[in-house]
Amino acid sequence: MPSCHSTNEVASDLLKTQKIEEGTVIITDNQTSGRGQQGNHWESDKGKNITCSLILKPNALPLSDQFVLNIIVSLGVADLVSDVLSMDAKVKWPNDVYCNNEKISGILINSTIKGHMLENSVVGIGLNVNQQHFSNTKATSLSLLSGNTTYNLPQILESLILCIEKRYFQWKNDIDGLRNDYLKNMYWRDQVRTYKENGKYFTGIIKDVTNSGKLMVEDEVQTRLFDFKAIEFVK
Ligand code: BTN
Repeated sequence: MPSCHSTNEVASDLLKTQKIEEGTVIITDNQTSGRGQQGNHWESDKGKNITCSLILKPNALPLSDQFVLNIIVSLGVADLVSDVLSMDAKVKWPNDVYCNNEKISGILINSTIKGHMLENSVVGIGLNVNQQHFSNTKATSLSLLSGNTTYNLPQILESLILCIEKRYFQWKNDIDGLRNDYLKNMYWRDQVRTYKENGKYFTGIIKDVTNSGKLMVEDEVQTRLFDFKAIEFVK
């Protein structure tokens, strides 16, 4: 669609009123009010990037393991970025994709629940492709990281969906392999780094992530689990 406020909202509205097949992608060239994590806005110049929402129905996924969906999608996006650039792309927990210490993609997943299982998931992906200037200094794009190549957006979208599909099948056949790949590709994992919790700085090492999405960090005395928003990456 040429323009819309938020592909995630369009997808959620469609799911409320129509039968939508798994694998349907809602995409726009001009997202005017993109939603980000924690109520943030997602910035994307018209016609430059991928802003899309993929509808999945991960009905075999219990609510308690819902983070597995973040693992599938963020790894799929990181795969695409590494394939295109031949560079390492990392997943910054919970599900940002970083390359060269800058954010190239953000993911926002909204799911409905049936009983204890996930029903419909709207997987919103913002992937910076051809944009050259960002108001956020920590943002980058495929183009900036490749020395200003202009990429074909439909081709990038097609490869992106294939990369996510591959990880989605891996979840069904080889969950341990999927988790291991996520751990291997986690930004700052196994490194001594500074984090912030409730305004206080501490030194710790990321070790793992639980299926419900908690980050496991070893500090000087113990191993602790953190919820989204409870910990900030500092340096
Ligand atoms: C983040 O804060 O990092 C998540 C950003 C997610 C942005 C994408 S763009 C397509 C989809 N539609 C939205 O409104 N948001 C997501």
